[in-house]
Amino acid sequence: MGDSLQFRPVNTENNASPTDLPAVDAPASETAAQAPAHVAHPKTIKSYVKRAGRTTTGQAKAFEDLGPKFLLKYAPQPLDAQAAFGREGKLILEIGFGMGEATAHIARVRPDDNFLCCEVHEPGVGALLKRIGEQELANIRILQHDAVEVIDHMLPEGCLDGIHIFFPDPWHKKKHNKRRLIQSPFVAKLVSRLKPGGYLHCATDWQPYAEQMLEVLSAEAQLANTATDAGLAGYAPKPDYRPLTKFENRGLRLGHGVWDLVFQRVAA
Ligand SMILES: C[S@@+](CC[C@H](N)C(=O)[O-])C[C@H]1O[C@@H](n2cnc3c(N)ncnc32)[C@H](O)[C@@H]1O
Repeated sequence: MGDSLQFRPVNTENNASPTDLPAVDAPASETAAQAPAHVAHPKTIKSYVKRAGRTTTGQAKAFEDLGPKFLLKYAPQPLDAQAAFGREGKLILEIGFGMGEATAHIARVRPDDNFLCCEVHEPGVGALLKRIGEQELANIRILQHDAVEVIDHMLPEGCLDGIHIFFPDPWHKKKHNKRRLIQSPFVAKLVSRLKPGGYLHCATDWQPYAEQMLEVLSAEAQLANTATDAGLAGYAPKPDYRPLTKFENRGLRLGHGVWDLVFQRVAA
């Protein structure tokens, strides 16, 4: 499905966030796979499971009308970002934008930056395309593909000014922890794609994952934590550009915590 524009339109609007959907167990074939310790996300272990979800008529129309301009095709060759966006600008990668609520907001408040956004959930891609149309956003391009492969095959070293990973799947069960995105080998790869001074911004509402993020990012020699105030315990104040989404607001009302982590690649 990754590169195709196929969808199954229905007549009702489906605005559920992937985070609202029931947790999905990993297929047995994948849970059985063993990755060598130094390899993050080998082909058999994905950081996502393709979820059921229907593309609405509005999203289907957005695919048709806006897909040709805003969807990039996955191809295992270096991305020409200037050609893809039709202009120069800082390049920010987002991994897993869900329904694109935060993505659209950030693109709106940072019009000078270019946002390259990866998501595998088709209704989510449709939802972001719809927002692009409604909000007349020009600075987003979408890759409906596994971000791990995009990073491996399309993004050269030192090409990114920033990386956003907001509320990545927490993979709560211990046996599924290996599917989490934020692990040392993958973080090393992310850092290699950042320019010196570029930033990595992660957020999560799952405390054990926040602790894992803090440990892994702090251990990466090429990264420096921007949250240097001792009172912050390593977690950053929420940057202004990241909005409180409906999902996050609901969690906060229920008394759940949210942790932001903002690290910078040290100068070469
Ligand atoms: C829990 S949701 C969070 C979505 C959104 N960032 C938010 O804050 O609402 C995580 C999303 O990441 C996507 N995802 C996970 N691994 C991915 C990968 N390797 N490439 C692209 N998308 C991925 C999933 O499909 C899912 O929509």
